[in-house]
Amino acid sequence: MSVFKIVIIGSGNVAYQLAWHLHNSGHEIIQIVSRHIDAAKWIGNLMEVPSTNRYSEVSLLADIYLLTVKDDAIDEVANQLNLADKVIAHTSGSVGLNALQKASKNYGVFYPLQTLSRNVSVDFSHIPICIDASNSHTAIRLKELAATLTNKIIEADDQKRLAIHVAAVFANNFTNHLFSIAQMLLERNGLSFEILKPLIHETVRKIQNHDPLNVQTGPAIRHDEHTIKKHLDFLKDDHQFAEIYSALTEDIQQWKIGNEA
Ligand SMILES: NC(=O)c1ccc[n+]([C@@H]2O[C@H](COP(=O)([O-])OP(=O)(O)OC[C@H]3O[C@@H](n4cnc5c(N)ncnc54)[C@H](OP(=O)(O)O)[C@@H]3O)[C@@H](O)[C@H]2O)c1
Repeated sequence: MSVFKIVIIGSGNVAYQLAWHLHNSGHEIIQIVSRHIDAAKWIGNLMEVPSTNRYSEVSLLADIYLLTVKDDAIDEVANQLNLADKVIAHTSGSVGLNALQKASKNYGVFYPLQTLSRNVSVDFSHIPICIDASNSHTAIRLKELAATLTNKIIEADDQKRLAIHVAAVFANNFTNHLFSIAQMLLERNGLSFEILKPLIHETVRKIQNHDPLNVQTGPAIRHDEHTIKKHLDFLKDDHQFAEIYSALTEDIQQWKIGNEA
């Protein structure tokens, strides 16, 4: 197994998860760099490595630099780094590969296709990692690094990665938001979100072996228009929820027609 010296830039969810799992996989995390020193120190202290909040103090002794700041800050931070020919990769699904070209000539993308939170542990061996790179040397290094975490490595250029990220936003971020709405509606009526968990579990279990389109149920696909009207009346004081309900109902009904054609 290749063992790398790694600098992690950023101190959020992805920084923590990658630092922790790469450290546990035998790599040497040599520095945590983040604009808020307390957050950098918190991660650094877990693996007894130094941290800094100054880009001018970024160690030049690492093999790989993982830039884990939020999408909109990647450009700004990359432009403050001068790593010559060191390998640097960002971890975003949607930011272009070339965003890092001022930081090094060996740049790439190391995008873990999973929802990562600092306070929720994950098994990285189940997580696909999407790789892209400015040249084959960088691609090989990033794939070697990814292979120490998972055997699910996907080569994806900017366009493919964007498609993956948009799909992931629908599959994860939007469904999770819908779970939050469901929880609010239940709790407002004195009911616990717990009662929905078997339903949520079954929804996810079913799509392991079926296309989601083929296992859709509910009033929209049945065209139970009286029920749909009753649901919209129930939501009459929650305009935003009613709009979401109507938009999704309409889309489900259009897809059914499209599928039958
Ligand atoms: N979380 C996920 O599920 C996930 C999965 C795959 C990929 N990603 C990608 O990974 C990257 C990080 O996501 P995250 O979830 O870890 O985000 P996060 O928890 O919000 O952390 C973002 C990090 O960016 C730093 N940052 C924000 N604005 C900055 C600026 N102007 N200059 C310098 N640093 C700045 C933050 O520093 P402060 O704490 O000082 O604000 C923080 O360290 C993003 O590109 C995201 O698309 C996320």
